[in-house]
Formats: sequence, structure tokens, C-alpha cells
Amino acid sequence: MSDAEVVIYEARGHVALLTVNRPEKRNALDAQVRRAFLAALERALRDEAVRAVVITGAGEKAFVAGADIAEFEGRTAVDQWRAMSTASIYEAVERSPKPVIAAVNGFCLGGGMELALACDIRIATTSARFGQPEVNLGIIPGGGGTQRLPRVVGLGGALRLILTGEIIAADEALRLKLVEEVVEPGALLTHALAMADSIAAKSPVAVAAAKEATRAALSLPLADGLKLETALFQVCFGSADKVEGVRAFLEKRTPTFTGR
Ligand code: COA
Repeated sequence: MSDAEVVIYEARGHVALLTVNRPEKRNALDAQVRRAFLAALERALRDEAVRAVVITGAGEKAFVAGADIAEFEGRTAVDQWRAMSTASIYEAVERSPKPVIAAVNGFCLGGGMELALACDIRIATTSARFGQPEVNLGIIPGGGGTQRLPRVVGLGGALRLILTGEIIAADEALRLKLVEEVVEPGALLTHALAMADSIAAKSPVAVAAAKEATRAALSLPLADGLKLETALFQVCFGSADKVEGVRAFLEKRTPTFTGR
């Protein structure tokens, strides 16, 4: 399959939908999927018409069932070091100035869970299943799971999942606040795309600034985070979007944002 087939790119209005399309292997992340994913995300970031991204998995069984375990066999430490020295899909998602929503439609394990964790918002179906089962393979999460999971669910919840390798259902994921919402399988894409559309209707400048400032809360001391917030707040005042947003409010009309 070509790269464009293993990660399908669809533009839906102001939203790019990226579908990892390797259902016969439960959408496991091999080198081709990672490369294709990065290219698809880059395409979404380059396209000025795109203001939000939704990621999902093809088929009904999996979002992404992790890194491709077959690739691990026979790999030395140096091989793995080289494989991990290329650009990371997790960092690319996290750093994307355009918000990324994970629409989790089935197994969301290992690297798949780490991909969802790098996203800004996670929506799952009632049939989604989550876990960091790396300990079963004699390895640990290597796509940011040990760092992002405790930031999302707290230390105890993260250690429970990472140390036991337990796979949990969607309702438990919701209880842990690992996902923001759980919907029926038939409603997943409509719901995720509607949420992306609602974000896409806002100022792209404000959305990017809001994402950067809010995410910084997890890595910066409070005083530094507040300084960053102030700086980004002031950046917004230099945008045409702020002029339009304030004017539209005062004129009692819907704003039209340009991302300038
Ligand atoms: N890497 C490589 N191949 C994978 C995979 C992965 N992470 N997850 C699933 N597959 C493959 C299976 O090997 C199988 O291939 P085959 O048909 O050539 O034998 C195919 O996908 C279907 O998997 P199967 O186990 O038959 O499907 P299932 O629906 O019964 O179970 C899972 C799905 C996800 C529970 C199970 O495949 C699984 O546990 N996968 C590994 C999850 C994991 O440990 N991820 C972390 C990796 S670091």
C-alpha cells in the first residue's frame, strides 16, 4: 500500500480527518504508518484552510493497537535508537498549533494510547479499550506514556495501567479522565468532527495561543506559565482576529476569523 493509503487524508471543510488504515494489523504503527502519519499531519498544518485535525483508526476493532511488535524482533538497542531518532509522531501532534482530537474507535494500546495522549482532546466509543501493555513484552512505554499518562490521569492511575498492563473499558477511561467523552460507536466521527468544527469556527490565532499556554501549565512553574499567558494574550491583541472578534461582538454579529 502507498503512504497515502496507510494514512488516509480527508479534508472536511476546515477539518482534516486522518485515518490510520491498517485494520488487518489493528492499525499498528510500523515505520510506513509513522512516516505517512507525519506527512499527513504536515499537510494539515501547511493548509491554511485546515483549522483542526481529527485522528481515528480504520475498521471497527482498533484505533491503534500500538507499535508494530513484529518490528521489535531481532532489533538491537542501536537499531532501536536509530529508529527513534527520526521525527516523532507524538511530539508532532503535541506541538501542532492546530488542535488535534483523537476519535478512539476500538483498541487504543501502547503507542496508540500514547498517540491519543499526545492529542488535545480524546473522544471514545463505548467499545474502546485502553492500556499500556508494554510490560507484557519486557519493555516500557517509549512514546511518552510514562510522562504524559501521569499528567493526564495522575500518578496512581498511570502506575496502575503501566505496571499491570491492564486493559480498561471506555467507562473506566472516562472515570479516570483519560477520555473527555464517550459516545455510541455510530456517533463517534460525527461527534468528533462537530467538536473540531466548533473549534475551527474560532480565531485560529487565539486557538493556537490558547493551546500553547494551556499545555505549558503542565511543564512550567506557575510564575513562568503566567508570564507566557500574558505574552500570548498580548500577541492576540496584534491580530486581525481580535479586531474582528471584538467588533463582531459589539455589532451583535457572528465573527469571521481569518487567522491573521
Ligand atoms: N503489532 C503488530 N501486529 C499486531 C499488533 C501490534 N501492536 N496488534 C495486533 N497485531 C496483529 C496481530 O498479530 C494479528 O496479525 P495476524 O492476523 O497476521 O496474525 C492481527 O493484528 C489481528 O490481531 P488479533 O490479535 O488476531 O486481533 P484481536 O482483535 O483478537 O486482538 C489486540 C486485538 C489488539 C487485543 C491484540 O492484537 C493485541 O494484544 N495486540 C498487541 C497490543 C500491544 O501489546 N500493544 C503494545 C505494543 S508496544
